[in-house]
Amino acid sequence: MRIDKMLANLGFGSRKEVKKLLKDGAVKVNDQPVKDAKLHVNPKDDTVTLNGEVIEYKEFIYLMMNKPPGVISATEDSYDQTVVDLLEFEDSVYSPFPVGRLDKDTEGLLLITNDGQLSHRLLSPKKHVPKTYFAVIDQEVSEGDISAFKKGVTLDDGYVTKPADLKIIKSGIRSDIELTITEGKFHQVKRMFEAVGKKVIYLKRLTMGPLSLDESLELGEYRELTDEEIQQLIEYEAN
Ligand code: URA
Repeated sequence: MRIDKMLANLGFGSRKEVKKLLKDGAVKVNDQPVKDAKLHVNPKDDTVTLNGEVIEYKEFIYLMMNKPPGVISATEDSYDQTVVDLLEFEDSVYSPFPVGRLDKDTEGLLLITNDGQLSHRLLSPKKHVPKTYFAVIDQEVSEGDISAFKKGVTLDDGYVTKPADLKIIKSGIRSDIELTITEGKFHQVKRMFEAVGKKVIYLKRLTMGPLSLDESLELGEYRELTDEEIQQLIEYEAN
């Protein structure tokens, strides 16, 4: 691959800007300064540095974030901070985007990647990817709610939800529950509880398909998926 293309693909500037970096002597390949934009490099074997920093070339990036409340699941927003604003420059150069949306006030597992095909397949309504949420509900949650969610409840727009698995973790004047759904309608968990006359007062996503939230991540922190997690995700998405 041409060195200018590699650097431009990684987000270090347009081809023209990258040419200038080369001309200024900022780029070295295997410790040799390189000025020729046409030089071919093998991203796997050659060591490319920009201002002394080694540049890792990979096509795809897969990040798991523990999304904090108050941040939008989008790449840009006119008012609020987005999950992409929370990324380090070295990760944002890959132009990743969140796979699906969590509401502004929802916390927890968010996959952020630049793998459009994987994202598309995981979000496909045909795929029925299970997602498990932990929620705090404003009142007692009953066995009746478990049966209602198993059958499907009618949302405010008339849509009848697919069977969902509700587990009561602690029932009381405020209840802790876990709910697994296989679809992703707008505000789905909140609207399902509204359909049975209850309100979600806290919501956190725990799993999505084969991925589980790494509980060692503080709110707003993220990490790359491990090779094993990427493998599981790719296998899951292919089946
Ligand atoms: N369901 C909701 O209501 N909100 C979310 O953020 C995710 C699922």
